Amino acid sequence: MAKLLVGNWKMNGLKAALYEAGLIAAAAKAAQSQSVQLAICPPATLLASLSEATIGTGLLTGAQDCHEKVSGAHTGDISATMVKDAGAHFVIVGHSERRADHHETSAVVCLKAQAALAAGLVPIVCVGETRAEREAGQAEAVVLAQVDGSVPETFPEGGLVIAYEPVWAIGTGLVPSTGDVLAMHGAIHQRLVARFGPLGASVPLLYGGSVNGTNAADLLHLDHVDGALVGGASLKADGFLKILHAIQE
Ligand code: 13P
Repeated sequence: MAKLLVGNWKMNGLKAALYEAGLIAAAAKAAQSQSVQLAICPPATLLASLSEATIGTGLLTGAQDCHEKVSGAHTGDISATMVKDAGAHFVIVGHSERRADHHETSAVVCLKAQAALAAGLVPIVCVGETRAEREAGQAEAVVLAQVDGSVPETFPEGGLVIAYEPVWAIGTGLVPSTGDVLAMHGAIHQRLVARFGPLGASVPLLYGGSVNGTNAADLLHLDHVDGALVGGASLKADGFLKILHAIQE
């Protein structure tokens, strides 16, 4: 399976940041030919302009969230249809920052993933345990319950991605041991196979949480780790491309 490297810019990036995305786009075609797909999920304000600017470059774009409805009286929200219309390929749903800041439950995340699929987008469904949950020995149970509740009943092959992002590893510089990542990705893979059969086995599983050019090679060469969802290190082309080069070595 080709590796997928997705940058999540979160609430960072003014128009000037399109320059960094341009540098990333310039590397995207060559990356594709070496079986690495690059994508950037900028803030919603930059999605249409970035999508337009990167047509034909091989760099894909995505949104960081969508509403579960197609349209209506939901001030400030953006529908999956709008995300698609802006030129995106992916939409992140259920990021832990949205689960925490906006009280999104797995049931809501599942509706968002369904809306994304209906709009022709590929949802990147995020799951991950908190530090307290890991210390209590509940990490796997929590993550598998999120997978069960957030992944819709049906999706096309290649049409859905899962990102495992331990909450305590996000933006902290802390990374789980490779053994823990291997175990969690293996458990998610098994759960998807049990529910969906071969379709479940084909779902790409990304790791996210303090990925950088130094730790990427160890993490991304593990079984059932098909790529990374990268926050801080994706804001500058240099940092993001270091991850690309690390996994190509
Ligand atoms: P960092 O790479 O900054 O830890 O963020 C990870 C993340 O939350 C990506 O969605």
